[in-house]
Amino acid sequence: MTEMIILRSLREIARIQAAGKIAADTLTLLKRHARPGISTAELDRLAEEYIVSQGAIPACKGYQGFPSSVCISPNEGVVHGIPSERKILREGDIVSFDLVVEKDGFMGDTAITVPVGEVDAESRQLLAVTEGALQAGIAAARAGAHVGDIGHAVSAYVAPYRYGIVRDFVGHGIGTEMHAEPQVPNYGKPGKGERLEVGMVLCIEPMINAGTAKVKMLRDGWTVVTADKKRSAHFEHTIAITADGPMILTERSE
Ligand code: MF3
Ligand code: CO
Ligand code: CO
Repeated sequence: MTEMIILRSLREIARIQAAGKIAADTLTLLKRHARPGISTAELDRLAEEYIVSQGAIPACKGYQGFPSSVCISPNEGVVHGIPSERKILREGDIVSFDLVVEKDGFMGDTAITVPVGEVDAESRQLLAVTEGALQAGIAAARAGAHVGDIGHAVSAYVAPYRYGIVRDFVGHGIGTEMHAEPQVPNYGKPGKGERLEVGMVLCIEPMINAGTAKVKMLRDGWTVVTADKKRSAHFEHTIAITADGPMILTERSE
């Protein structure tokens, strides 16, 4: 028996979107402050203050023991980087921010990777391709299609660049829990996997590496980095499947 996938009403989707808007605005704030010289701990504090000021909860903090409000992963960091006073952003870095906001019991999950000052052309391309892969995945998330269509769209978009598509972490359903059914991998076969239906709310989140797809976890038990130390990018949106197609619930207004 396959696990149950919850279908949400328009009312519930609106509540996920309310959480998602705060999450999106927090990313906009983080992007603005991601300048050379700032520590990732300071960025985490700014984000947490903003989320709390909106009457919301930074849902990552304390989730399975994660110590901070935002996952901050510079350069070869793939996901789940722990903010630190000792990690200072430098000109030419890239940095991923991933966060979940809970508002009135509902959650929005979103991530971006941004340049710190001027970055090299290879890094700019990695960011653009990963964001494009997210958009391709979203476009495939239509009622009647399947979870495998999303992963296939992501991997087909990335294929010409010979990047590594991370397989060890995947997207997921979301709602009143951060991680719900189904899993949404960034690879797959068209027409395979769970059938997508109106009311499903999913997080699509390609993690794309400049080199190998292989990753390793550091001894802190959280930080995931590329096995070859090349750079990695991560973009994520929470989306709802509606009768009119995919609706992004974590859209940034910048
Ligand atoms: N935001 C992550 C995701 O996309 C999960 C963060 S793990 C946590 O699924 F421990 F930081 F919460
Ligand atoms: Co996330
Ligand atoms: Co997610």
